[in-house]
Amino acid sequence: MKGSLIYEGKAKRVYACENPDRVLIEFKNDATAFNAKKRSEIEGKGRLNCKISAALFELIELNGIPTHFLELHSETFMIADKIEVIPLEVVIRNIATGSLCRETPINQGTILTPPLLDLYYKDDELGDPILTENRLKLLDLISDSQMKEVEQITRSVNKVLKEYFDSLDLLLVDFKLEFGINPLGKLVIADEISPDNCRFWDKRNSDPKERILDKDRFRQDLGGVIDAYEEILKRIEKDSSNAS
Ligand code: TMP
Ligand code: ASP
Repeated sequence: MKGSLIYEGKAKRVYACENPDRVLIEFKNDATAFNAKKRSEIEGKGRLNCKISAALFELIELNGIPTHFLELHSETFMIADKIEVIPLEVVIRNIATGSLCRETPINQGTILTPPLLDLYYKDDELGDPILTENRLKLLDLISDSQMKEVEQITRSVNKVLKEYFDSLDLLLVDFKLEFGINPLGKLVIADEISPDNCRFWDKRNSDPKERILDKDRFRQDLGGVIDAYEEILKRIEKDSSNAS
């Protein structure tokens, strides 16, 4: 079933499948931050991110938004559409933190209404630089109409996920999406949606460090990375067992 390795990124490996329109994606335990200047291996992270991503892709699809996800293959592998990756990182922010507060005078914790959309050029060697509208046009990465669709989809996903996590007592602070074109020529959400590329704050805890349930625990050396990721999956699974 698993064919040759097509691509290896920092947190995932992509393998060919028997069906040339599909790929197998393996979620690794490797963790990196600050453009891979900080690295570690976190036992169990691959399994948690694979399961969390699958559940969130399913939720997004149920809301009529297309993703590359097809099905879980095992605990650390999913089957997805083979896509042509658009080299953009699309970040949407509900609450100000992270690079927004390092790079601007906006105070930590400011509620952003409407949510702020930031675009970055996906290129590790360049350190994923932020893009202006004019630089995006100059690079010619995506057409104007596709860019409008990317923004619309990102804002819709944010609405769906923000409401969903709110019901699990979690604040969705911000997250990053990636996009691609599937074999049918359709724009779809790609990559993963997990505590590696989202920020979650626990509404049941007001301590500014303890409430962090995402990769910031690794970035900031707070410890308890796996416990935090487990807590996210636990709340998602509890919710789905209540629903069925
Ligand atoms: P930032 O505040 O560091 O710009 O991060 C914004 C969001 O994007 C946060 O949820 C983490 C996520 N992110 C990634 O998924 N990959 C990255 O390389 C970076 C820098 C951030
Ligand atoms: N994913 C990026 C890296 O590996 C950065 C981050 O998530 O903070 O370096």
